[in-house]
Amino acid sequence: MLNTGNDIVHAADLLKKGELVVIPTETVYGLAANAFDSSAVDKIYKLKNRPRTNPLILHISGIDQVDRYASDIPEVARLLMKHFWPGPLTVLLPKTTLVPDYITAGSKNVALRVPRKKITLDLLQSLDFPLVAPSANPFTYISPTRPEHLFYCYGAETPYVLDGGPCEEGIESTIIGFDEEKIVVYRPGAITFEELEKVSGQAVVPFDKETVKEVTPGMHHKHYSPKTNVILDSIEHMESLESDNTGWITFSRPLNRPNSFYLGKDGIASAASQLYDTLYQMDRLGLSTIFIEQLPEIELGRSLMDRLKRSASK
Ligand code: TXA
Ligand code: MG
Repeated sequence: MLNTGNDIVHAADLLKKGELVVIPTETVYGLAANAFDSSAVDKIYKLKNRPRTNPLILHISGIDQVDRYASDIPEVARLLMKHFWPGPLTVLLPKTTLVPDYITAGSKNVALRVPRKKITLDLLQSLDFPLVAPSANPFTYISPTRPEHLFYCYGAETPYVLDGGPCEEGIESTIIGFDEEKIVVYRPGAITFEELEKVSGQAVVPFDKETVKEVTPGMHHKHYSPKTNVILDSIEHMESLESDNTGWITFSRPLNRPNSFYLGKDGIASAASQLYDTLYQMDRLGLSTIFIEQLPEIELGRSLMDRLKRSASK
């Protein structure tokens, strides 16, 4: 049984005592600790079995907190934060001395985000410290988007889960940084390139090791992976296959066969919100392989394909 509830006073007490709390956000559930408590932060790395070289996002209560933790903020960064916060945008900026090195894995930059889920914003506003929170899954597993997913992550070891219901976006935040004036996307996510371009009025470039000077730590290729083997394929080819003990996820039309999940009925945003939940469910079916339909790499399709390619990589 999981220890869940919607008691933010209890959650705040645990965090003040140096304990972990699972917090809901509009993207995925996060495993939160007081950012200024190094032994609490250690517990995150231990429970997730996450390499110490992979830094943590600092979750703050509002844009008014940015200048405490970041400096040399480009105008376009302020414009984007104003527009998208609270919401699924994470911004990499030079950190101030207030930000401990143990949360940035030694990097001079800090990743900042203001989540939109009301219960978590209320929690953050009630605290006098910010929270670090990676996605709550064990390292390389699927990010949880429902409280019940946590049971499959840590069983009885799961810390208190603040229940915020399902995560509306269902895919992680978009991480951006700045190379001089250029907007660089380090991780495509719930906010699309197209939305960033529309709001900023400038072109957005994907992170590319060749052209961007500072390399982001912790961009692991294998990630977001169910235990079941994943293969990406076209719908036409999937339709031509016959195979027992196989699962199927499609976006453009349903496949009429067992273990098949059609996520495209209400559009791509709805598909994104269901994808990880579907993978959690399918991972419990004892299937040998899950075939997933490839998507065109535009708008949210680009973000979903980023995750799907990683989940399919060996
Ligand atoms: O939607 C989200 O962003 C969720 C929710 C819980 O907020 N959080 C999340 O955190 O996805 P995590 O730790 O699973 O992924 C954050 C990514 C990691 O790949 C990490 O390497 C990168 O952000 N990151 C964090 N701080 C960084 C920094 N200072 N410099 C470069 N990359 C950073
Ligand atoms: Mg993660």
